[in-house]
Amino acid sequence: MKIMILGIDGYIGWALGLRLIANGHDVIGVDNFYTRKAVREVGSDSALPLPSMETRIKEAKKVFGKEIQFYNLDIKNFAKISELIKRYKPDAIVDFAEQRSAPYSMVDAEHAIYTMHNNIEGTINVLYAIKQFSPDTHLVKMGTMGEYGTPKFDIPESAFVNTSINGKEDLITVPKWGGSWYHWSKVHDTNDILFANKIWGITATDIMQGPVYGTRTKEIVNKKLFTRLDFDGVWGTVINRYCVEAILGMPLTPYGKGGQTRAFLSLEDSVESLKRLIENPPNKGEYRVVNQFTEIYTVMELANEVKAIAEKLGINAEIKPIENPRVEAEQHYYNPERNVLPKLGILKPSRTLPDEVYAILSDLKNYRKRLEKYRDVLMPKVKWRD
Ligand SMILES: NC(=O)c1ccc[n+]([C@@H]2O[C@H](COP(=O)([O-])OP(=O)(O)OC[C@H]3O[C@@H](n4cnc5c(N)ncnc54)[C@H](O)[C@@H]3O)[C@@H](O)[C@H]2O)c1
Repeated sequence: MKIMILGIDGYIGWALGLRLIANGHDVIGVDNFYTRKAVREVGSDSALPLPSMETRIKEAKKVFGKEIQFYNLDIKNFAKISELIKRYKPDAIVDFAEQRSAPYSMVDAEHAIYTMHNNIEGTINVLYAIKQFSPDTHLVKMGTMGEYGTPKFDIPESAFVNTSINGKEDLITVPKWGGSWYHWSKVHDTNDILFANKIWGITATDIMQGPVYGTRTKEIVNKKLFTRLDFDGVWGTVINRYCVEAILGMPLTPYGKGGQTRAFLSLEDSVESLKRLIENPPNKGEYRVVNQFTEIYTVMELANEVKAIAEKLGINAEIKPIENPRVEAEQHYYNPERNVLPKLGILKPSRTLPDEVYAILSDLKNYRKRLEKYRDVLMPKVKWRD
């Protein structure tokens, strides 16, 4: 298949590009290197040194025999992104190209507006470009499980639910409750995709994904093929952040009571799920929701897991909860449905969490010196109520 990846320089985008070329697909990649710059803006960097796009593409060609076509452009530029979509008419467009940090979106009005602007405008450009120039393209849009918040009901894996108001029944869209401006930008994206599907019949898979962890996939076999790994208080997701804390001999720091329950998956399982969703599109004109995760943990359980594995590597990590910078439920019900991926054969994690954490810590151990200079950026500085 011919697949365009928007955001190919990112954590998941690069790993997916490799998975797809390794399986014989043609990949066209787009990125404006925004994440590289924005992570440096908060004084941080990827934990694993990141090769340039040229080096990565050259190495990928050497290892997998296929060249990724790369375009450095901002998807907010409608003329440029629509010209590219018109030229390639891809079978699928995978859209990762967004500002993806909740704390970054909460810094101030400027960062909140940047997040809304970048994410919503990019999505609408892609929707219009598909409609005008490539109506048979399947849009695979990456959203987040964080769109749902933490409701007391089971989280459906569908666009609509039946409800009754004043005794009258109708379908409504599944209720959402984002926990940051970033999460609300994803909710707005979802509404826009649903609307485009309704009026133009655009075929779409809207993925609600949980936080991703890991440094390796089957294809990331050497340093020149590394993908980024963020760990700081603004850009790091929880397991990756705990692993860097352990390597630096710092305490592992769950936020608040540590009872926040989330749905997780490894980078390997994320790219394999995406590959299967691309290769098995919904019917033409269908809007498909996918709750993409393999495991559910509280952030305290994860701290205990990382501590136990760190011990095996001779690292004595202490757990020290810190004040929660976010406004979120710290003890709550959480039960999302998961039907689409099991039908495509993604039934359980491909590797256990302890094995995956062991692999992350083993990779990070080689970069302890590099990480030393980033000690100061691990603690959260952005507070939701400030
Ligand atoms: N990493 C996770 O744990 C996780 C979990 C759930 C959902 N997601 C979502 O998955 C997607 C990918 O996440 P990631 O962790 O790989 O993020 P990332 O920041 O590493 O990758 C996103 C890429 O998109 C690019 N980009 C951003 N805006 C762009 C624009 N306007 N034009 C062109 N390129 C642009 C960035 O430069 C970056 O390389 C994001 O949409 C994110 O919200 C990530």
